[in-house]
Amino acid sequence: MINFNKQEFIQNLFTWFNNNKRDLPWRKTYTPYHVWISEMMLQQTQMERGVDYFNKWIKKYPNPTDVANATLQDILQSWEGLGYYSRARNIHKAAQIIRDNHQGIIPCDVNILQNLPGIGDYTLCAIMGIAFEKDFATIDANVERVFARLFNLTEKNLKKACFPLVNELLPKGSARIYNQALMELGALVCKKNPQCIQCPIINFCESKQLNLEQYRPIPKEKKAYIPILASFVIIQTPQKEIFIQQRATQKLWHNMWEFYGIDNIFIEPTKKLTHKEQEQIAKQTLIQELTKTLSIQEQEINFLEKPIHTTSTYTNHKLSAYFFLWNISEKQKEQIQHNLKGVFVKNTHEFAMASHHRKASLTLY
Ligand code: ADE
Repeated sequence: MINFNKQEFIQNLFTWFNNNKRDLPWRKTYTPYHVWISEMMLQQTQMERGVDYFNKWIKKYPNPTDVANATLQDILQSWEGLGYYSRARNIHKAAQIIRDNHQGIIPCDVNILQNLPGIGDYTLCAIMGIAFEKDFATIDANVERVFARLFNLTEKNLKKACFPLVNELLPKGSARIYNQALMELGALVCKKNPQCIQCPIINFCESKQLNLEQYRPIPKEKKAYIPILASFVIIQTPQKEIFIQQRATQKLWHNMWEFYGIDNIFIEPTKKLTHKEQEQIAKQTLIQELTKTLSIQEQEINFLEKPIHTTSTYTNHKLSAYFFLWNISEKQKEQIQHNLKGVFVKNTHEFAMASHHRKASLTLY
């Protein structure tokens, strides 16, 4: 970093931030609790939705102790739509530790914070830096992009390459503004398609000088997604009650509610199936499962013609799910109650559901 005037760089960046920062709810007081919750949410969603979720959350749970005292179902429901529900479960567990061991107050202590469930490097640095104003730098995708351009970084592991640089430029005692100014610059100016005319630190930008700003950061290799086919039945009684079950497994989505079905139908990974073929396999697999579990004949199952189809991606999976609607008789209701674990409910809104189940449920109302 020869000839790099740090003081001028920081001054340009901070002035720009003071004049251009968005008015975000957690920027009013910077309480550690607000910073924690907002950062957890923003790892999951875009700013606009993040603000909505944040405001609702804080209204419902003004303090960590309110989170700790809520039921897990309630917490999952408040998180519904954000995905990666282990984050919500971890927030709940962490809040209980804060209530039980720290008088309900988030402590300014790295050792304690990093041992709380769900608090990884990024969140730890955000709480320490943004809330407590300690010298901790945060590196999210925005900051990676800014630094890749600023120093013309070509390394595959951008986070690792940025780390010493982001830390070297951090002015002591100003982590709150520094961290947020870099993130804000990445979000508003140094975007995927960079708006260099508006950039307060353009004079420091190596890739701009080399005319390479459009080519930095070097795009990451595309993830290979594993296709998954799932098939569910929305069972509806003559009284319009709907059958749902609570997931018991310790895996993804546990404790959440869902329709009965098969969530991982094996398909040859190399085979490219059309929608129609997928739907056919989904339907056949579901019918087989139902006849076996309920000891009934295939003719007794009559799905409504067109299933609801949803697609979604999570981690490295691409999920294609079909939901078949089945209007059952009173007798069939008894058979289901006898053979399946679950409940008939009037309204599924009160139950936390993974987003594909929720999407399917919304078509019913
Ligand atoms: N993205 C994640 N956290 C942020 C923050 N505190 N300010 C701006 N953008 C962000």
